Amino acid sequence: MAEYATLEIEGKKYKFPIITGSEGEKGIDISALRRQTGYITLDTGYGNTGSCKSSITFMDGEKGILRYRGIPVEQLAEYSTFTETSYLLLNGKLPTRNELNKFSVMLNDLSLVHEDMQTFFQNFPRASHPMGILSSMVNALRSFYPELKDEDDDIEKTMPRLLAKIRTMAAMAFKISRGYKVVYPRPDLSYCANFLNMMFDSPVKPYEVDPDVVKALNAFWILHADHEQNCSTSAVRVVGSGRVNLYAAVSAGMAALWGPLHGGANQAVIEMLNDIHKSGTKLKKVIERAKDKNDPFRLMGFGHRVYKTYDPRAKIMKKMVDNYFAKNKLEDPLLNLAKELEEVALTDEYFISRNLYPNVDFYSGTFLRAINIPTNMFTVMFAIGRLPGWISQWKESIDDPDWKISRPRQIYTGPTEQQFVLIDERE
Ligand code: SDX
Repeated sequence: MAEYATLEIEGKKYKFPIITGSEGEKGIDISALRRQTGYITLDTGYGNTGSCKSSITFMDGEKGILRYRGIPVEQLAEYSTFTETSYLLLNGKLPTRNELNKFSVMLNDLSLVHEDMQTFFQNFPRASHPMGILSSMVNALRSFYPELKDEDDDIEKTMPRLLAKIRTMAAMAFKISRGYKVVYPRPDLSYCANFLNMMFDSPVKPYEVDPDVVKALNAFWILHADHEQNCSTSAVRVVGSGRVNLYAAVSAGMAALWGPLHGGANQAVIEMLNDIHKSGTKLKKVIERAKDKNDPFRLMGFGHRVYKTYDPRAKIMKKMVDNYFAKNKLEDPLLNLAKELEEVALTDEYFISRNLYPNVDFYSGTFLRAINIPTNMFTVMFAIGRLPGWISQWKESIDDPDWKISRPRQIYTGPTEQQFVLIDERE
């Protein structure tokens, strides 16, 4: 029996269908609201609004659950690789060994970038932020592959092509910004090992691939791979809804991710911890500032729109960082500071009452520091991880028969009608 929600407006009743997701989530389908009632809804920040139906990622913010295509992220971080998890997100199933080998070979075959792109990279001002470079260069990819039309037959190649090239472009942005020689991808290295080699290999000091770092980087990128309809994924879907090519849609997602409230938080956390460490500010004072409505300071890496408990990714990240540090006998005062800060915050009524816990960005920076990724590359690392998610969500949207161009409405609060006044008659 279909379920309905009834809305009563000015004495008239309207019924709207209730839809139930595969995990029992309930939603009211208001697609006919304006047509039936003349009313729209208002939901600033879309905290209560579903933009689509999706079968890619499931999150339960109250229980701290995150699954990609039904598989818990804890199991993927433990047993999978970033390439295999990317295949899972893109294709909706785990690959057979043969399918995974073919996919890995394709990613390696497509990992070089057009030589002319180096001219673009070299002409960015030296102080350019790598996220600004990368979002521009991802958009520019379309110009380097003019043979690509937007028909489906190209999309099956465009998706792995972008996945293959993003780490080459990220490493190029880093090398060129430092005036170093660009290192090319090697066919004998896995996805993550290739990225590390392109970042750190140099003619004076050849890079030794460390299997520990490769395993940890796989887990790091798996934890970032998708997160349903977050800000940057929504940007990819909204821009993609105009039927623009994949590169332009992903470039918009990268721009959205850059913000310190979103993926830029991983860089902001380390900058915050550095400031506290250097200034010697007492943690109680830091917490007081974070609670003070008159102070723009927020505890970066804390809080989440969906998770009202510990972000499951932050839990895994913290354990991964602890294991990595213990195994390599590393010390980092910022990691110790982060743990102390978490402890103080999680015993404070303000944080407890608002369900503010560490999110994925709180500990991720301490791992990236430990593997020598420069701070201004942290959000680039998030973007590489999130790319398979963006691509899968974009593909799902263009394949969705119900999908149409995104065009929200508004409640107008400006001046009512007034006449134009000639300039000499104005006061
Ligand atoms: C990511 O959406 C996703 O899934 C994103 C992401 C992904 O994988 O794609 O998970 C990645 O972006 C993680 C979030 C990274 N950002 C940060 O760590 C920045 C710090 N966090 C906050 O800015 C904030 O928590 C947000 C932006 C993450 C969430 O903001 P919301 O959902 O709009 O929550 P809110 O601002 O309405 O906060 C509710 C209350 C407010 O206080 P009151 O008005 O109730 O008194 O909590 C307070 C906020 O002031 N609050 C904080 C806080 N976060 C929320 N107070 C101090 N420090 C914080 N970090």
